[in-house]
Amino acid sequence: MDREAGRPKGKRRRSRGVILGVVAGLLLIVGAVVLALTLRPDTLKATFLTRCKEFKGYDCEKLWGAFEQAYVGRDPCKVSREAYDPFIAAADFKPACNRLMFWSKTKDVVHDFTKKRDCYLTVEDTVLGSVLNGLTWCGKEGSNETFTTNCPGWRDCENNTVGSFWNRVSTAFADAACGDVTAMLNGNIATPFSPTSIFASNEVKRFDSSRVKSLNVVLVTEKSAVTNCTNTSLKDLQKELKQGIKYNCKEVTEAQIQECSSHPEIPCEACW
Ligand SMILES: *[C@@H]1O[C@H](CO)[C@@H](O)[C@H](O)[C@H]1NC(C)=O
Ligand SMILES: *[C@@H]1O[C@H](CO)[C@@H](O)[C@H](O)[C@H]1NC(C)=O
Ligand SMILES: *[C@@H]1O[C@H](CO)[C@@H](O)[C@H](O)[C@H]1NC(C)=O
Ligand SMILES: *[C@@H]1O[C@H](CO)[C@@H](O)[C@H](O)[C@H]1NC(C)=O
Repeated sequence: MDREAGRPKGKRRRSRGVILGVVAGLLLIVGAVVLALTLRPDTLKATFLTRCKEFKGYDCEKLWGAFEQAYVGRDPCKVSREAYDPFIAAADFKPACNRLMFWSKTKDVVHDFTKKRDCYLTVEDTVLGSVLNGLTWCGKEGSNETFTTNCPGWRDCENNTVGSFWNRVSTAFADAACGDVTAMLNGNIATPFSPTSIFASNEVKRFDSSRVKSLNVVLVTEKSAVTNCTNTSLKDLQKELKQGIKYNCKEVTEAQIQECSSHPEIPCEACW
């Protein structure tokens, strides 16, 4: 005898539907996992190439090759800054006068501004930094693959794959500085010019007085801010500059910067 004979038909159909749904759901999840696993080694390259193609005049496959040779097959804690020299050479970033924007601890406000207004460029807006911004990668000894998880960072070792890249790239960016240079620093923290920042440890030291005329600090400062342009750390910054490079500092509220971000008719020189 059919054990389910006494059950109403609708319920049986419903439970079969539920089982089918669960099975289909599981298949979908398994499929997605398999797809993610097979695609994973390629995602970094795919992202790199997609972002690279937004910049004119680059052989993006060649740029990828120059980048990849820095870390593939290497211990991810033994990648020096110099390993990225071929990438820097292939990117061939030209000096940009009066347009370069450096930053420290102002990531969101500065990028919101440079994305909406095209008068200034941060390193992340150039081919040097854009292709890998926000990403993680490393290689492994005895492997020709690129990994995007379990890669060492600053906490693990000094010469880590990603850290060495940003150190090298920021140095190249600072080397390209020319004319009037801008730096957006954070006035809402005690030490706007921190000696451990990339800006302090790499970039400021590279400003060449034969090319750079001035450094203009935009100190993003709210009314209740803890510090201002008179802060000692900013005096230290001034001292770090090579002779002949002029220094200015101006306190500007975030609201004022946002006002400029959303009003393209305001000339950039009037933003602060
Ligand atoms: C990191 O690499 C540099 C060369 O770029 C080297 O001088 C330094 O000793 C290395 N640091 C460590 C901890 O291995
Ligand atoms: C890695 O090496 C294997 C075997 O030598 C080769 O088939 C594969 O194409 C290589 N992969 C990459 C990403 O170079
Ligand atoms: C800047 O901050 C110092 C204390 O850190 C304060 O004495 C000074 O009045 C401030 N200057 C201005 C212009 O707000
Ligand atoms: C100003 O700079 C000094 C030295 O870099 C720092 O120790 C201090 O906390 C800073 N901020 C204020 C609000 O004084």
